[in-house]
Amino acid sequence: MMENQLVLRRRQLTALLLAMIVGLFLFEPWSLFSKPIWEQEPSSESIAKGEQIFAANCAVCHGEKAVGENLQRPLGGMKDQGGYLAPALNGTGHAWHHPDEVLFRIIHEGSIAEDSPMRGFAGKLSDSEIVASIHYFKSLWPKEILNRHTEMVQH
Ligand code: HEC
Repeated sequence: MMENQLVLRRRQLTALLLAMIVGLFLFEPWSLFSKPIWEQEPSSESIAKGEQIFAANCAVCHGEKAVGENLQRPLGGMKDQGGYLAPALNGTGHAWHHPDEVLFRIIHEGSIAEDSPMRGFAGKLSDSEIVASIHYFKSLWPKEILNRHTEMVQH
């Protein structure tokens, strides 16, 4: 009798433990504390990876080293013959006015302007590749711009 009760008790404990483990994986409570992907800190690896991604996917419009489509017009805007000019992303343009989350969304989902050639890369690049491309062009920003960007996000 005693032994039977002990076995029952042990089964209940095992069931409870299993339920807890399953719950942990279903609800991933730690994800409440993890940062969104665009807040990941750049590393020399992510910047190097981003440089390759940028060269293969973005430089065709934004120029090599993200100088912009037209060196005279880092802010982009409209071309004389119509259509959008790809702005510089190296800190001389306007991109640094956007928090990292907005930069991520522009690259992930594309420009809000439907007639813009800036289309989303969601199907083409993984989230971490998009973040790496941001780490790369931010690595080109002068320190002062980088500081102002960080301050802007914190306020
Ligand atoms: C086919 C040309 C083209 C390609 C390829 C392209 N872009 Fe763009 N991008 C543009 C144009 C044009 C704009 C500005 C017009 C707009 O925002 O709609 C823009 C805007 C942006 C902006 C917003 C800049 C700002 O100052 O507001 C970011 C950030 C950006 N692109 C990043 C990227 C990244 C990163 C890639 C590669 C993964 C990429 N783009 C590929 C043409 C392109």
